[in-house]
Amino acid sequence: MKIYRINGGESLKGHVYISGAKNAALPILAATILTDETITLENVPKVNDTIIMVETLEKLGAQVEYLDDNTLKINTSTINKYAVENPSIKKIRASYYFAGALLGRYHQARVPLPGGCNIGGRGLDMHEKGFESLGADVKITESEIIVDGESWPLSGARIYMDKVSVGATINIMLAAVLTPGKTIIEGAAKEPHVVDVANFINGIGGHITGAGTDKIRINGVPALKGGTYAVIPDQIEAGTFMMAAAITHGDVVVDNVIPTHLDSISSKLKEMGCRIEESDESVRVIGPQGQLRRTQVKTLPYPGFPTDMQPQISVALGLADGCSTVVESIFDNRFMYVNELKKMGCNIVVDECTTAYIEGVDYYQGANMTSPDLRAGAALVLAALAAKGQSDIDGIEYIERGYENFDTKLRALGANIEKLEV
Ligand code: EPZ
Repeated sequence: MKIYRINGGESLKGHVYISGAKNAALPILAATILTDETITLENVPKVNDTIIMVETLEKLGAQVEYLDDNTLKINTSTINKYAVENPSIKKIRASYYFAGALLGRYHQARVPLPGGCNIGGRGLDMHEKGFESLGADVKITESEIIVDGESWPLSGARIYMDKVSVGATINIMLAAVLTPGKTIIEGAAKEPHVVDVANFINGIGGHITGAGTDKIRINGVPALKGGTYAVIPDQIEAGTFMMAAAITHGDVVVDNVIPTHLDSISSKLKEMGCRIEESDESVRVIGPQGQLRRTQVKTLPYPGFPTDMQPQISVALGLADGCSTVVESIFDNRFMYVNELKKMGCNIVVDECTTAYIEGVDYYQGANMTSPDLRAGAALVLAALAAKGQSDIDGIEYIERGYENFDTKLRALGANIEKLEV
C-alpha cells in the first residue's frame, strides 16, 4: 500500500505548474472516436483516470501512442468493437462518455455502469433522456448502459435538462455532433471543461455554438477531421494549490492557469484574508500572517464555487477565526472526509449531509487518515501540511486519479511530504 507521510508546518513558497484539466481530457479522449483522422492531444494529465481512458480506447481497437507523458497521438479509425470491456473502466465515472461517443459515431454502445468517487447518488437519467431524444433506445441494466441508435435513424432534437449536469451536457454533445439536424441543449452546464470539449470538436470541423452558456446548439456535420489540440489547465488542481498556499500561510504562484476560471475561488480566498495577484496565465496567493478569516460557502454549478473545491475550503476554514458554514448543493454525500478530519482536532459538524458548521481551531494535530475520495483526499493532504506533527494518509490511489505528481509538486514548494510503500 502506498501512503503519503507528511510533516506539517512548512509555509509553501514558489511556483507550481498546473497540468491539463482531467475533467476536460476525459471526454476529449472519448471524442477522438468521432473522427477517423489522427488527433494529437497535448497537455493531457497523466493520471490514473486518463490512463484508464487510453487503455479502453486501445481495447476498442484504436491506435494510441504517448509522444511524451502529456502528448498523445490517437487514431480511432481501427475501432472494431462497440462494447467497452476494460474491467478498470468501472472505477471511473467518465466511462459514460464512451456511450455518447460510440453512439454518435457507430450508433451503438455497451458500456459498464460508471464507478468513480462515492460522493452521492449520481444518476444517469439526464444522459438517458438526451440519448432517447436523439432517437436512440437506451437500456440501463444492473451492470451496463446499452445504447442502440440503429433501429431508428438518429436526428437532432431540443432537449430540456431537468438538472444542470456536466456529464450529460457533454455526452449529448458527443452523441449529437455527427447526428443530422440541429440539437439544442437547454439548461446546459457551463463549466470550463464543457467549453473545452466544444472547442476541441469545433477545431476538427464540428459545429457547436453557445458552449459556456445554458443553451448549446449543435448542427450535425457528416464527418470530422484530424488535428492538434491542447487541453485547458485544470481549474481544480489550481484551486487546490491556491488553498494550500492559504492554509500554510505561504506565497505561491500558480502558473499555467486561466484566471477567470478561478474567480469564485480567488474571491473566497480574499474574504478569508489572502492577497491575490492575477497575471495573464498565473495567480499568486499570499496567505495572511495571522489566522484565516471565517466565511460562508455554497457550492454551485459554474460560475459558482465548485463542489470539487468544497473539501479543500472546508479544511482551510477549520483553521479560521470563528464559525463558518459550508453548504454542498451538488452532491449529497460529499462530507465523507469529516470523520478523518476530526482526528486532527477539527471542530466540524455536518447536518443532513449537506451543511457543515465549522468552528475554527488554532491548529490541527497530525494524525493517520484514510482518503475517502479524490478531492477529500487532497483536502486531507492540505490539512496535514498545516498540522503540527506527522500525518500518514492512505487511500492515495484516489488522489492519484486526479492530481499529476501531487507529492512532487508539493515538495518543490517546500512541503515535507514523502510517498512511501508500506
Ligand atoms: C462531473 O461529474 C465531474 N466528473 C465531477 O468531478 C464534478 O464534481 C461534477 O461534474 C460537478 O462539477 C467528471 O467530469 C468525470 P454532474 P458528473 O452530472 O458529470 C445529478 C472530481 O472530483 N445528476 O454534473 O458526474 C448528480 O447526481 C469529480 O473530479 C442526475 O441526477 O456530475 C449530481 O447531483 C467528482 N442525473 C448533479 O446532477 C444525471 O443524469 C451534478 O452531476 C446526471 C447528473
